[in-house]
Amino acid sequence: MPVSTPPAAREKWSSKLGFTLAAIGSAVGLGNMWRFPYKTADAGGAAFVVLYLGMTALVGIPLMLAEMTVGRGSGKSPIEALTHFGGKAWGRVGYVYILAGTIILGFYSVVAGWTARYAIEIAVSGLPADPAGHFEAIAFGDMALVWHLGFMLLTTVVVSGGIRGGIEKASLVLMPVLAALVLGLAAYAATLEGSEAGYAYYLGVDFSKVLSLEVLVEAAGQAFFSLSLGMGAILTYSSYLSDDHHLPNESLIISIADFGVAFFAGLVVFPLLFAFGLQAQAQEGLGTLFVALPVAFEEMGGFGRVLGAGFFLALAVGALTSTISLLEVVVSSAVDNLGWNRPRAAWTAALVIFLIGAPAAFSGAYLGLMDAFAGEFLLVIGGLMLSLFVGWAMDDPIGEVSKGTSGIKWFFAWRFLLRFVVPAVLVLVLVFSVQKLAAQIAGFFG
Ligand code: PHE
Repeated sequence: MPVSTPPAAREKWSSKLGFTLAAIGSAVGLGNMWRFPYKTADAGGAAFVVLYLGMTALVGIPLMLAEMTVGRGSGKSPIEALTHFGGKAWGRVGYVYILAGTIILGFYSVVAGWTARYAIEIAVSGLPADPAGHFEAIAFGDMALVWHLGFMLLTTVVVSGGIRGGIEKASLVLMPVLAALVLGLAAYAATLEGSEAGYAYYLGVDFSKVLSLEVLVEAAGQAFFSLSLGMGAILTYSSYLSDDHHLPNESLIISIADFGVAFFAGLVVFPLLFAFGLQAQAQEGLGTLFVALPVAFEEMGGFGRVLGAGFFLALAVGALTSTISLLEVVVSSAVDNLGWNRPRAAWTAALVIFLIGAPAAFSGAYLGLMDAFAGEFLLVIGGLMLSLFVGWAMDDPIGEVSKGTSGIKWFFAWRFLLRFVVPAVLVLVLVFSVQKLAAQIAGFFG
């Protein structure tokens, strides 16, 4: 028999800001600082940004609000929350969330480990002399495993401290640090000679590229991953909220902040690359971050080392606040469903996740497969199920979401989006992600 904690015993955020910053922390991560800039540059610049904002408004915000509604309304972690409103059958969707969170955290922590290693290495011993060779040497192997372990340990220490004593405290410190780093780096990048070409490349409008189904799907998928939707992270954080929070405002603030960091990350990356003649590498994804940027920092001389350490520190901080939320989904479920205490749940879950992620520290193919399966496929399934649940099956979502507001007239539009628009877009995204997954699997075994 699952034992559930009575609602009265559940912890609550101690302040409004604490929840908001923790949720922004979940959203802002590697997806913003690495994927968003190069996807934008690749897919039509400013036009892609507009498309991305459209997808955030039509798909992202409605779904985030749905997660918040189910989380706050039930005061429970995903399985119990969905069971509370929808019965046993819907409750099973919660298992998909836990699976997604487990796998995503497994590989995400490996990449996060690289960023932490870069930040510390650059601060302590300077920039690598041969960035390409260095990245190749450290990305996979025993040391990657050690940094993955370190990142998991850090995450677990925070999560086992609980909502107020762990997650909220960490977010109140880390999020302002992250904002200062990203803004400072963008401001410095603007002073570099030759930076205009970077802005032009990043934000030059190319409508011909945006008018394809594929780019639309890219924008939707990116919005989805970046807002931490589809695996119960926002749902779980919202389960520690009280009824006086204005959920639509929260979802708006979180989405704007998430977009802001992504956008500013591009204002750091592209001016740097172009100012140092590294534009050829602007589209290489991971390579841009770990190989081309260190070259640019090196060219800058002494101050480059400070900037480089700051840049990778920002990445590591963003990643940490995301891994915290990923682990929290699994931990709060273990607390609610198995009746474990928090430290036991946190350390056990972390051990399992560390082991699941361990092969990704040795193989890029395995890492890519985990990403395609959980980061693109499972998330979309999870989001689709939730939109169908809140759109069609849940009893009175509008009554639930309007608590803490003065009753908003356009809530019916929210339900309309959840019923028709969100599922339609997500089915499209799903078709593409299944194809990608099939290609990854073929590549893995081929
Ligand atoms: N939103 C995070 C990012 O952009 C990743 C994430 C996905 C975190 C899902 C939690 C849940 O990097």
